Amino acid sequence: MRVLVTGSSGLIGSNIIKLLKDKFDFIGLDITKNNQSPDIPTIFSDALNINDIADSIKNVDAIIHLAANASVHTSWEKALSNNISLTHNIFETAKNIGIKKIIFASSNHAVGNFEMDIPYSNIVKGNYKNLSPGKYKLIDHKVPIRPDSQYGISKVFGEATGRYYHEYYNMDVSCLRIGTFNAENKPNNIRSLSTWVSYRDLSHMIEMCLINQKGYEIFYGVSDNLWKIWDIEHAKSTIGYKPLDNAEIYRTK
Ligand SMILES: NC(=O)c1ccc[n+]([C@@H]2O[C@H](COP(=O)([O-])OP(=O)(O)OC[C@H]3O[C@@H](n4cnc5c(N)ncnc54)[C@H](O)[C@@H]3O)[C@@H](O)[C@H]2O)c1
Repeated sequence: MRVLVTGSSGLIGSNIIKLLKDKFDFIGLDITKNNQSPDIPTIFSDALNINDIADSIKNVDAIIHLAANASVHTSWEKALSNNISLTHNIFETAKNIGIKKIIFASSNHAVGNFEMDIPYSNIVKGNYKNLSPGKYKLIDHKVPIRPDSQYGISKVFGEATGRYYHEYYNMDVSCLRIGTFNAENKPNNIRSLSTWVSYRDLSHMIEMCLINQKGYEIFYGVSDNLWKIWDIEHAKSTIGYKPLDNAEIYRTK
């Protein structure tokens, strides 16, 4: 399977390519160099103008769309151009050249304002008083969108775009509401004991989406953390997601 990865040189792109490169035929698209997997063929071009390189990606079977301003503090102007317009261009070009599958890097920030509500507000602060793991309702793929930032709004736009291209053009679209994928590959604060996703778990989720996902789906890209606030049962039952990691083993206090 030939897979185009936009944002292939970034933290997620370079690490998932490293873990999955023996299983898929990757082509990168980025404006910077991939220091982790320099041998992956890469098109150095602004993904906003993906239409300009349409001829060179015609034989691709699927796109993992990661290129974006990845910070929750992204300004509206940057979110509008590099997340919203760029994502629309990815779907439109894919449709025009017949690419039928897209995995879109959405974010937990599409529903981040649930963290204002009890019990999630307490859990992400490490206050577990009167709570037991598995005994509170998890935030699932059916909850209303509740973006917490301009960045979150841009990810909601990407999810809506995915739904449109699925319903009108029959593309298979997975929107991954990714939790915390960080440079340390382990939880680095109290919140991330709930939100962490390991490199191997997210790579595995992406692999399962490439192989098994059909239709339009939203999955939470999170490891099987003891104090997770997001549902992973939907990903388990739909695509066969089997996470191996749990942030709890890193808890120091
Ligand atoms: N890291 C996380 O915890 C996390 C959580 C939720 C969602 N996400 C999403 O996952 C995706 C990847 O995140 P990351 O942490 O790897 O970010 P990153 O900043 O490390 O990587 C983004 C990559 O995209 C490239 N890029 C940006 N704009 C581009 C453009 N116009 N054309 C071509 N390339 C461009 C950058 O050069 C960079 O290599 C982003 O969409 C981000 O919003 C990340």
